[in-house]
Amino acid sequence: MLVDDYAHHPTEIRATLKTARAVGRKRVLTMFQPHRYSRTKALHNEFGSAFDDADRVVVTDVYPANEPPIPGVSGQTIVDEIAKHGHRAASYQPRFERVHCDIGNALDAGDLVLSLGAGNIHEQLSILAADLVIAEKLKAIVGAKGDVRLYEPLSKHTTLRVGGPAQFWVEPRNEAALSELIRFCRRENLPLFVIGRGSNLLVRDGGIRGVVVHPSGGDFDKIDIGGEEITAGVGAKLKEIAYAARAADLGGLEWMEGIPGAVGGALRMNAGAMGAQTFENVVRLHYLDANGQAHTKNRDELEVHYRNVPSLEKNYAVRAVFLGQVAPAEEIVRKLEASQEKRRTSQPKAKSAGCIFKNPEKCPAGKLVDELGLKNSSVGKARVSEVHGNFIVNDGGATATEMLELIDQIKRAAKTKRGIELETEVQIVGESEPDWHL
Ligand code: EPU
Repeated sequence: MLVDDYAHHPTEIRATLKTARAVGRKRVLTMFQPHRYSRTKALHNEFGSAFDDADRVVVTDVYPANEPPIPGVSGQTIVDEIAKHGHRAASYQPRFERVHCDIGNALDAGDLVLSLGAGNIHEQLSILAADLVIAEKLKAIVGAKGDVRLYEPLSKHTTLRVGGPAQFWVEPRNEAALSELIRFCRRENLPLFVIGRGSNLLVRDGGIRGVVVHPSGGDFDKIDIGGEEITAGVGAKLKEIAYAARAADLGGLEWMEGIPGAVGGALRMNAGAMGAQTFENVVRLHYLDANGQAHTKNRDELEVHYRNVPSLEKNYAVRAVFLGQVAPAEEIVRKLEASQEKRRTSQPKAKSAGCIFKNPEKCPAGKLVDELGLKNSSVGKARVSEVHGNFIVNDGGATATEMLELIDQIKRAAKTKRGIELETEVQIVGESEPDWHL
């Protein structure tokens, strides 16, 4: 239930919240826009105790109503007072256009959402209302076993740990639901982006507009072995394929052990390690096209390059069949250990997206960055790893903007000092602007 209310004075807020509480919904979530600097300053004490009946409060900046700002008075003033009063779930959101994201991501069935204020906070509630209508439809498509979340932070779903929110985060559990999602997005003109384990992604700080599909669980995580063929859904982890193959005495897939990705991303990017690449093992691919129609193709019918598979640019992989070869157990174990050892000794443990750049023909990118003396160089919390020059690590709380600036600095140095045009291998997606709704 979504309600907009004009309450902006502490007494009004208390009364409105009391009524909201009495409605008997699960929780009361509130977005509050303080009105006027002078009132915020004069009544800051009273505001502190006005929100006791709210389970969660997101406070935006002051709506000035023609007043000039008063230094030191902001939405934070109110949050500090609420916290002082002992309420633990109040937060300040200085970016007005993100208020609905903070509330929407915390939302659960049965909650009541209130927008409180005399300015324009109702706009944030309207956006939430419109997105909830779409979210309900997406829920109907993925069913009870699937999951739909609003404004899910993509920093939680990428190994680099940066990126703004996904407008609609959707987890289908089977091919039929994925196909229906593809058709729904087409019909509704909603952009659709598929994300796997997010280990090769740099999502910009504005997040991703539209539907972000994460095929996982259910059929997508299945791994079946028949003879020398291993069939795996796009949600299955590459590491699990390597170990399922070992258990079945199948060699040739040991290199997958070290890749922190799932099958879907590995197919889209033709991921590789230890001199091997995904499509060297693929024999067949089952995918859905842009109309949600299913197709099965043999390897030789697909266009595949180093770290890029154009056949999957506008199609959506569902599962693939990989071919192993019967091999002695000791040989498989030896190769698995060699892969682990290589990773342990040459790659950082810190949060990263794997290699940032494709290896140019002249020189491996890591070696080039090393020779340029750029290891350990940083922009904010984004830093070139001291272990491997082609890894940028997140030292904690880095932004996509910092990551992109560091990438740019490396590219410029490679071009001017060595005449080499570096190309990113990591996929850079999403919006630079935070206000994709406006
Ligand atoms: N090197 C340096 N300094 C460095 C890093 C590397 O001199 O800071 C040298 C190494 O000594 C080696 C050469 O550069 O002589 C190549 O380095 P490495 O053997 O580590 O392999 P890579 O080409 O950098 C590739 C893949 C990795 C994969 C490894 C291991 C690409 C872009 N990278 O790295 O894939 O894990 O081989 O098999 O093809 C990824 O795709 O995200 C990724 C990490």
